Amino acid sequence: MLRSILGQSFAGKRVILRCDLNVPIKDGVITDDGRIRASLPTIQHLVAQGAAVVICSHLGRPEGAPEAKYSLAPVAQRLEELLGQPVIFSEDTVGVKAKAATGLISDGGVALLENLRFNPGEASKDAQERAVFASQLAELGDVLVSDGFGVVHRKQASVYELAGLIPSYAGLLITKELEVLKSLTESPERPYTVVLGGSKVSDKLGVIGHLLPKVDRIVIGGGMVFTVLAALGHKVGKSLLEIDQLDVVRGFLAQAEQLGVEVVLPNDIVVASGFSASAEFEVVAADQIESSRFGADGMGLDIGPDSAERFAQAVASSRTVFWNGPMGVFEFPNFAAGTKAIAQGLTEVAGLGVVGGGDSAAAVRALGFADEAFGHISTGGGASLEYLEGKVLPGLEVLND
Ligand code: 3PG
Ligand code: MG
Repeated sequence: MLRSILGQSFAGKRVILRCDLNVPIKDGVITDDGRIRASLPTIQHLVAQGAAVVICSHLGRPEGAPEAKYSLAPVAQRLEELLGQPVIFSEDTVGVKAKAATGLISDGGVALLENLRFNPGEASKDAQERAVFASQLAELGDVLVSDGFGVVHRKQASVYELAGLIPSYAGLLITKELEVLKSLTESPERPYTVVLGGSKVSDKLGVIGHLLPKVDRIVIGGGMVFTVLAALGHKVGKSLLEIDQLDVVRGFLAQAEQLGVEVVLPNDIVVASGFSASAEFEVVAADQIESSRFGADGMGLDIGPDSAERFAQAVASSRTVFWNGPMGVFEFPNFAAGTKAIAQGLTEVAGLGVVGGGDSAAAVRALGFADEAFGHISTGGGASLEYLEGKVLPGLEVLND
């Protein structure tokens, strides 16, 4: 059982609140604030109780040193707007200056530390180095509330080691995310369909292997589908291809057949002259990718219109759907139709339709869908996939009694 913040009193306490505020930022502007909004209920709960709340998070993957483009400063500003109260921003994560900055807030106040990953201790492979950083963080508060669901699959100082140093509890976002994931793993309504996209098949193989015995259908699109098409013996031109995964893919296709799981693959592909928003493009059969006018130079950037319709139908006719990863390069309008079709299909599911992951969540919002149109939008991509794989997530393990 997770130790929850519900039933605990944090009045007068200094709470270190670990959130996942890793939001997409372009030229200093937050392009999707979903993860910030998802963090608000716990922050507001703690503020209302009269805790002094010291929030911390990572952003992007800086390599243990400050980098301006990964600063959380824009997040502090957005947080201030959404909370409607001042947020003290500390440019240091630990040490005398961080203590002084966070010391400025009193009960009901909110501070945000700069990006944890500016410190090499946060994501270090060396447990000792992480432990040292965790003990420095521990000096900033009496208790830890862990609510960064998107990062619970990482064994990192603020997620893992810190929880062993001071009393630690799971926040409201983690609790909510787990409720939904549990309903996906324990007796989901059928048909149960999993839709996988995104660029890397190697990231998703674990989840495919684990889910095959549980699902009725698996729908595959996105950059990873070209490795599947190649495994079936088709040429894929300059499309994304993970050549070292071909045998593994053949293995899971065979496993799917044995289990009677329907594998839905695209029958047509939007092939482009190159990777750019203004690239020329043509729709060709999925087993004839090099037949476009770009020949072997053609690059698949989306599933074709026929596939989009079939995929949307496979999704909409299911009663439980988990979707992770875009179907194409949705950031380029010419290659967004496949992703849009899946999102549309998901809104029509009579049952539970879950959008899993930072990228997919940002995609549906960028394409103009309202959050309310879906059963649930998870803030964790890797985290929810690893949960569905049945892996032990370090950041949850430490919050268990
Ligand atoms: C994410 O966006 O996947 C989470 O914030 C975790 O970030 P990471 O993959 O860089 O650890
Ligand atoms: Mg990630």
